[in-house]
Amino acid sequence: MFESLEERPTDAIMALMALAKADTNPNKIDLGVGVYKSDDGATPIMRAVKQAEGLYLTEEATKSYVSTIGNADFRKTMLDLIFGADYPALREDRIASAQSTGGSGALRLGAELIKSSGKEPSVWVPTPTWANHEPLIGSAGLQIKSYPYYNRETLGVDFEDMLDHLRQNAKPGDAVVLHGCCHNPTGADLSPDQWDRTAEFLRDNQLVPFIDLAYFGLGHGLTEDTYGLRKVGETCPEVLLAASCSKNFALYKERVGLVAAITTSADQARVVQGQFGALQRRLTSMPPDHGAALVARILDDAALRDVWLEELTEMRGRIKDLRKDLSDALRVQGAEAMAAAIIDQNGMFSTLPLSVEQVHRLRSEHSVYMTNSGRINIAGANSTNIPALADAILKVL
Ligand SMILES: Cc1ncc(COP(=O)(O)O)c(C=O)c1O
Repeated sequence: MFESLEERPTDAIMALMALAKADTNPNKIDLGVGVYKSDDGATPIMRAVKQAEGLYLTEEATKSYVSTIGNADFRKTMLDLIFGADYPALREDRIASAQSTGGSGALRLGAELIKSSGKEPSVWVPTPTWANHEPLIGSAGLQIKSYPYYNRETLGVDFEDMLDHLRQNAKPGDAVVLHGCCHNPTGADLSPDQWDRTAEFLRDNQLVPFIDLAYFGLGHGLTEDTYGLRKVGETCPEVLLAASCSKNFALYKERVGLVAAITTSADQARVVQGQFGALQRRLTSMPPDHGAALVARILDDAALRDVWLEELTEMRGRIKDLRKDLSDALRVQGAEAMAAAIIDQNGMFSTLPLSVEQVHRLRSEHSVYMTNSGRINIAGANSTNIPALADAILKVL
């Protein structure tokens, strides 16, 4: 059987990680992989997570199975965190949810739910988008189509083009993937006004928003970063959400996520919830509990929650400071637009207007690592190497 299998190319990000790791230059700058790093280059366990883990170890009474829709406390505390306890759809029990294996698992469950509707809609993703959207969603058997989003000339969102393209090409019932905040790979987000218009546009064209919320809390703040989601949830009858706790709780390897669907009635939500359970059972049976239990412990406990919020605020502030420092260092003739975009963009990522050849020169001549598309994870830099990074970028321009 196995002899008929073909060798698969190594995942581009994994290959980039290996290249950066093998580089012996002590001053190398790795802006490749999408994990938050502190000033010393580490990806630490958050203080609240460490504390919750200590408590949980003594409190945990069993390792028995939990449920196909995961940890109930996690689902409740996460929905309250994301939407706010007073959110109409939440108060009216119109939101179905399931814990998932990371944000990726949530995207896949959302895609499987769409597929189960039997309506064969297309799923629209922005250009560019996270490289794993197409494999994760497409593998559920859905057709993926692209809409214009980022303009590499203006280094901003092509908002009117995006709406025009969807208006002309999407059909009622299609789903539209939108990054809730901190767009990966560009950092170019919709403004609140643009979210308002997008929500009305989606409603008027009978399109279903599928919001990928992988970085909330790391952009402008928890409330600001969920504005778009809440807006579409108030405007459109049906919304899908894939949320991740990988970045904002730094729980990457624990694989913690939440899939949710805003529906039109409590009855409908019950049906969707049952579907989530059945779909998860079919795919992996159940999500892992450990990380989700820690998130629930933190969100349920006022003191731990404060510790978490404080560190999240520090992380967000550090990203903003790095953006400002890099932007200032690049503000020279010929690079003004890039400098301005870096400060306007949001979250860990920006896509620099560099050719593949320039990206490769940065690697070979300056030990600066980023994806071929020019995407940088700004949190991979630190307070001391920003001048060298800016210098290297300016040299290859
Ligand atoms: C845009 C986007 N969505 C979803 C995810 C999924 O995250 P995870 O499955 O690690 O929770 C990521 C991770 O990098 C991402 O960048």
